[in-house]
Amino acid sequence: MHAVTIVDGRLEWRAHKDPIPGFGQLLVAVEAAGVNAADLLQRQGFYPAPPGVPPDIPGMEVAGMVVGVGEGTHRYAEGDRVFAIVGGGAQAELCLVPEGSTLPVPEGITWEEAGGFPEVFFTAHDALFTQGGLLAGERVLVSGGAGGVGTAAVQLAKAAGAHVIASVRHRHLHGAVVELGAVEVVMPDEVADHGPYDVSLELVGAPGVAAVLPALATEARIVVIGVGAGATLELNLLALMGTRSALRGSHLRGRSLAEKAAVTRAVEDRVLPLLAGGTVRVPVADRFPLPEAATAYDRFATGGKLGKIVLVNED
Ligand SMILES: NC(=O)c1ccc[n+]([C@@H]2O[C@H](COP(=O)([O-])OP(=O)(O)OC[C@H]3O[C@@H](n4cnc5c(N)ncnc54)[C@H](OP(=O)(O)O)[C@@H]3O)[C@@H](O)[C@H]2O)c1
Repeated sequence: MHAVTIVDGRLEWRAHKDPIPGFGQLLVAVEAAGVNAADLLQRQGFYPAPPGVPPDIPGMEVAGMVVGVGEGTHRYAEGDRVFAIVGGGAQAELCLVPEGSTLPVPEGITWEEAGGFPEVFFTAHDALFTQGGLLAGERVLVSGGAGGVGTAAVQLAKAAGAHVIASVRHRHLHGAVVELGAVEVVMPDEVADHGPYDVSLELVGAPGVAAVLPALATEARIVVIGVGAGATLELNLLALMGTRSALRGSHLRGRSLAEKAAVTRAVEDRVLPLLAGGTVRVPVADRFPLPEAATAYDRFATGGKLGKIVLVNED
């Protein structure tokens, strides 16, 4: 097979041995694989893949056809359309996926939508509901609301009956985020004026946490998922004490297979029906052939997009 390959901080389209599915694994012929910030960090040498995953092939989410099943798998057969979160290795012609992190792609969902679904919807669902305990009727702030995780979170929170406020720094994207379900879309420096917030999903980092602190509701939950704009801040603890609020952080990639399987089951129960029924969708801002991954990464880094950048297998 060929795969996007990290070579001295650059991406090349290189030949690799075909992977063989081990216990509990499926072999997937990749049709589409989303690009994520983690891939760009891994290319720079900052975010190594976990053990058991190809260290030089990036890609945290994959959609494609099952072409091989390992021992100990039960659910899927060759020819099934699936998508999955993986620790790495998705941006290739073939990818090994743990069966427990895999779901069937609903009918009517295109490959590029499927390739951009798993990482951001799994992350957004886990962060909003499992970590943040978001309830119907609560006010939730989603920072970075036009990005991949942000567009997933806005839609999921709206579907759950929350009042969604998103912060988006590009005004030309505000209307599109309203269409996805935000009641209000504000600039990042306007966040404090639009509280109180019961849940704050922090996708931007330290400046976002600083902005939301003065506008917390009683017993608010701040869930930090991304720190691209900075990871350190001076924190006035009185802002947390006074509102009896909680500040927590989370990530998916480093979790055990069993923990990821639990996240996958929650997505299957509560998100897959929304995707199948058209209540939530995957906005794809741009698509590129797999061998053009470097151009796709540049597009991702440029920003100003709605939703996902997806690599597709055109062979
Ligand atoms: N913890 C986890 O398990 C997990 C999983 C997935 C993702 N993440 C992290 O979550 C973050 C979001 O991921 P994503 O896939 O949604 O990325 P994305 O598609 O690039 O979206 C990020 C959004 O944040 C905005 N943004 C970035 N810096 C900003 C700043 N300084 N001020 C205001 N807005 C800013 C971006 O706006 P522009 O378009 O203007 O740049 C973009 O709309 C990333 O840091 C990613 O690494 C974490």
